[in-house]
Amino acid sequence: MLKPVNVFEYEKQARECLELAIWDYYQGGSDDEITLRANRSAFENIRLRPRVLVDVSTIDMSTTVLGSPVQMPLLIAPTAFHRLAHYDGECATARAVDAAGSLMVVATFATCSLESIAAVCDTNRLWFQLYIYRDLIVTEELVRRAEAAGYRAIVLTVDAPRLGRRERDMRNAFALPATMSIANFSTSGYAGSYIPEPAIVTWQTLEWLRSATTLPIVLKGIMTRNDAQLAVAHGIDGIVVSNHGGRQLDGTIASIEALPEVIEGADGRCEVYCDGGIRRGTDVLKALALGARAVLVGRPTLWGLAVNGEEGVRHVLQLLHDELALAMSLAGCPTLQDIQASLLKNA
Ligand code: LAC
Repeated sequence: MLKPVNVFEYEKQARECLELAIWDYYQGGSDDEITLRANRSAFENIRLRPRVLVDVSTIDMSTTVLGSPVQMPLLIAPTAFHRLAHYDGECATARAVDAAGSLMVVATFATCSLESIAAVCDTNRLWFQLYIYRDLIVTEELVRRAEAAGYRAIVLTVDAPRLGRRERDMRNAFALPATMSIANFSTSGYAGSYIPEPAIVTWQTLEWLRSATTLPIVLKGIMTRNDAQLAVAHGIDGIVVSNHGGRQLDGTIASIEALPEVIEGADGRCEVYCDGGIRRGTDVLKALALGARAVLVGRPTLWGLAVNGEEGVRHVLQLLHDELALAMSLAGCPTLQDIQASLLKNA
């Protein structure tokens, strides 16, 4: 196969590398996949207003996220079960992220244990995504292990009181193969069985989490101004504007459409990131112009991993890095501070 020249070509090649049930699990959204498609089409509908005759001979895209330095404002979103894409799983992803100077949000549903991932990279580059279990002792144990292994933040997913209706997975009777497990637990089985029952996780639970750890807490899955205001009122350190890659409530607005109101709600009191549909350097530019501190990519990592393991993820990150550098040059923005709302149509 030819070496892909962009993320979409990785997507096509990954399709050839994966069994249908695995492809569908990674690729699919909930119900009619309206939100899944909206996450992409919303980017296509945002248009840029470039500035010219700016010295763009040096492009600086380094920044920090919750104090951790990163070489680009593009991080790795938590996605489950990397070993379904490649034998080395999350450890391969983590090595690639380390090499790229990015940061990875490791999923609770990883197929390598959180400790084994921490052993292969600089732990300044790791945050831990958490699902809260009905049994808070089990949850606290996960948090303790992440702290002990050197993870730098807890990213609590807040948009999954139940799993969305993934009809592709129902059709395929998707399940982890018997040879694989959710490595952070001793048992194996489908993720759905580990999602807590409705109404367990509330703002009160968050107060418990705040008291249970000194690590910064990021909420992933905030889509409205009101919830952003509540998040900062609860002392949250960061927000990921996200609709879970179109996998939870179908029919929501795209996350890039929710970003402006969440930024208003956060009112500069916490960092705000955005995921969902980022496939091009220009998508990153648009999210930053709308006020995101950084973006996260999910599925593109899995495509890179499926096509060529650690090397594939490295190349996907390199492509997005180089595309962003080019987009910043062509837009007249040599630094991240130059990327302002005026870069967008109607600003
Ligand atoms: C998913 C859950 C596991 O989206 O986060 O599949």
